[in-house]
Amino acid sequence: MIEWNQILREEWYSSEKPDELVVNFATSLRKQNKKTRVLDLGCGAGRNLVYMASQGFEAHGLDTSETGLNSTKERLRKRDLKAYIAKGDVHLLPYRDTYFDAVMCLFVIYHQKLAGIQVTISEIHRVLRKRGVLIINFQSKQSHMYGKGTKVERDTFIQQAGPEKGIPHHFSDKQEITRLLKDFQTTNVKLRERKSDDGYFESRWIVTATT
Ligand SMILES: C[S@@+](CC[C@H](N)C(=O)[O-])C[C@H]1O[C@@H](n2cnc3c(N)ncnc32)[C@H](O)[C@@H]1O
Repeated sequence: MIEWNQILREEWYSSEKPDELVVNFATSLRKQNKKTRVLDLGCGAGRNLVYMASQGFEAHGLDTSETGLNSTKERLRKRDLKAYIAKGDVHLLPYRDTYFDAVMCLFVIYHQKLAGIQVTISEIHRVLRKRGVLIINFQSKQSHMYGKGTKVERDTFIQQAGPEKGIPHHFSDKQEITRLLKDFQTTNVKLRERKSDDGYFESRWIVTATT
């Protein structure tokens, strides 16, 4: 994925601070007393994976971008932390069935068409153990980005400008998310909306689900 290498090289998504969603997810996993093996799917430059490793979880990260994975490894090395890193694609996860207690897939799954999203979700379901936990986010149709760029299928647009030029974005409503996660037992779906630092309206669905 040349585009993602370039985006990450230009240090978009290079923050070292974990997303607050991940900090809260770690707290809830600890409360549930899960001795947890967690996968950060699409770990990018590693902000969330490094945090999970620093909190004592068995942390695994997968991404297609070597640039992202190299940053992740360097951050782990600097902090003397251990995690398992793999180069791969979200459509074909190199892990055996039921391997993980938890999966995080944040700011990743919607960068593809709906069929790819479906395949990724079935792979996540496959690698999660029974009563394993997922945290995932989706773009909502209220986002300022909805409708911008070239439409490649219903609710999917390829950006023609900005840092994610050339990258698809798929936008979902709650019904679609419910359908996508039909094989999960319990789901909690809520909107996170805010103005970005550069004044844009961000709107994403935050979902937790259990197998
Ligand atoms: C916006 S970044 C988010 C990174 C990280 N999750 C975070 O929150 O900082 C999206 C990441 O998804 C990865 N990605 C996109 N499509 C992918 C695919 N098909 N397989 C694996 N990784 C992919 C990109 O390489 C990039 O690192």
